[in-house]
Amino acid sequence: MKPVKVGVLGLGTVGGGTVNVLKRNAQEISRRAGRDIIVTRASARDLSRERICSTEGISLSTDPLEIVNDPEIDIILELIGGTTLAKDLVLQAIANGKHIVTANKALIALHGNEIFAAAGEANVVVAYEAAVAGGIPIIKAIREGLSGNQINWLAGIINGTGNFILTEMRDKGRDFADVLAEAQALGYAEADPTFDVEGIDAGHKLMILASIAFGIPLQFENVFTEGISNITRADVEYAGELGYRIKHLGIARKTTKGIELRVHPTLIPERRLIANVDGVMNAVLVHADAVGPTLYYGAGAGAEATASAVIADVVDVVRTLTLSAKNRVPHLAFQDNAITDLSILSPDEIETTYYLRLTLEDKPGTLADITHILAKHNISIEAIIQKEPHHDETELPVIMLTQKTIEKEMNSAISAIENLSSVTGQVTRIRLETLG
Ligand code: NDP
Ligand code: HSE
Repeated sequence: MKPVKVGVLGLGTVGGGTVNVLKRNAQEISRRAGRDIIVTRASARDLSRERICSTEGISLSTDPLEIVNDPEIDIILELIGGTTLAKDLVLQAIANGKHIVTANKALIALHGNEIFAAAGEANVVVAYEAAVAGGIPIIKAIREGLSGNQINWLAGIINGTGNFILTEMRDKGRDFADVLAEAQALGYAEADPTFDVEGIDAGHKLMILASIAFGIPLQFENVFTEGISNITRADVEYAGELGYRIKHLGIARKTTKGIELRVHPTLIPERRLIANVDGVMNAVLVHADAVGPTLYYGAGAGAEATASAVIADVVDVVRTLTLSAKNRVPHLAFQDNAITDLSILSPDEIETTYYLRLTLEDKPGTLADITHILAKHNISIEAIIQKEPHHDETELPVIMLTQKTIEKEMNSAISAIENLSSVTGQVTRIRLETLG
C-alpha cells in the first residue's frame, strides 16, 4: 500500500519531537499502522532557526496554508498552538477533507464544538490525545477503556510546568521565577507561561476531560481557575507539617446538583499516590462506578513524550482510513445526539475543605474573633496550628484546616476575617481534597 503522507505545521518542541520519533521508529510504527507514514511537508515561521529534528527529505515552507491546501497530504498535524491561525488552518484542512491530529488544548477547549461539527460534516477525524497530560494516553483511557462505566469524578495534575515549579520549590527551596525560566528553557511551558501558572492551560485540559467523562459540550467559560502564583514556600512547609502536599489539581465531579469544574492549588493527604507525582510528571485519578479508582501517570510535557501521543493518534487515523467516520470513536466519546447539557455548578456552590493561613496580632481574644466568624458561617475547624512568635515579633501565623463547607460561606467568612483590625494582610486559602 502506498505510504500515508503527513504535513507537520510547527517544528518547535512538539513538532520537532514528532518528526524525530516518526523517523526513528518508522519500521515499528508501520508494523502497527499497516502503512508507512512519512512526513513530506512541514512549516515553521523562521526556516533559518536550528531545529531539534533533521528536516532532510521534508519540503519546508513558512506558509502553513500551503501544506493545508496540498492535495498530496493525507493528515495534518497542527503543532503551532494558539486559537486564531491554528483554528483557521484546522477548519480549512477539514474542508479540504484532511484528517487532523493536534496537541492544542486551547483550540479544542475553546473551539472544539465547532471543529468537531465541521469534521463530522466532512467525514474526517480530529484527534487530540496530546492535548491532555502530554504522553499519558488519558483520552483513549476515558473515551474507550472506561466506556462501560459511569464516571463519578476525576482529579488530575495536568500541567507539567506548574507541577515542576511546585516540586522544585518544595524540594530545593528554589524561587518561583527561577524554576519557571527553567521550564521554559526545557520546552514545557506554553508560549504565554501565565497559561501554565494561572491554571488556564489546566482549565483547558480539564474541560476536555470533563466533556469525554460526562458527555457534555465543551464550555471553558464555566471552568473555575486559580493559579499557583500566590503559593509561598511557607504554605508548602505548613501543609507538610499537617501531613499534606500542595498540588495544582483539576477536578471535575458529577454531583446531584450539577457538575463541578475547577482548577486550583489543593492540599492532598501525602499518603495518596497522586500527592507523590513530582516534577514534570502528570497523573489523572478517575473514579468510576464499575472499576473504582484508576490512576494514569506519565510525562506531562516535553518533546518526545508528547510526540508519543501525537503519533498514537496518527496511527489510529491510519488504521481507520478505510472506515466511515461514523464508525469511529466519537470525538467527545458520546454519540453526537447523546451529548447532554448538564448544569455546571457556579464556583460559589463548590463544597470542599480548606487550609487557611493568616497573620494575627499577638494579643488575647484575637483567635476567638476568628473562630466566632467561622462559627457564624457554619464552618467547623478540623485542626489549628498557632506558631510561637520569635522574640520581639508582635504578629504570629495561624494555620487552620476546616471541615467541608460551601465556597460562598468561606468567601464571606474570609472577607469578615480580613476586616478584623487584629488580622494583617490577606488570608491565604487553599482548598483541600482527600480524594478518597
Ligand atoms: P513551540 O513554540 O515550540 O513551537 C511552535 C511552532 O509553530 C514553531 O515551529 C513555530 O515556528 C511555529 N509557529 C508559531 N507561530 C507561527 C505562525 N504564526 N505561523 C507559522 N508557524 C508558526 O510550541 P510547542 O511545540 O511547545 O507547542 C505546540 C503545541 O503543542 C501547542 O498547542 C502546545 O500547547 C501543545 N503542547 C505542547 C507541549 C510541550 O511539552 N511543549 C505538550 C503538549 C501539548 P518557529 O519555530 O520558526 O518559531
Ligand atoms: N505547558 C504544558 C504543561 C504543556 O506544562 O503541561 C503540556 O500540555
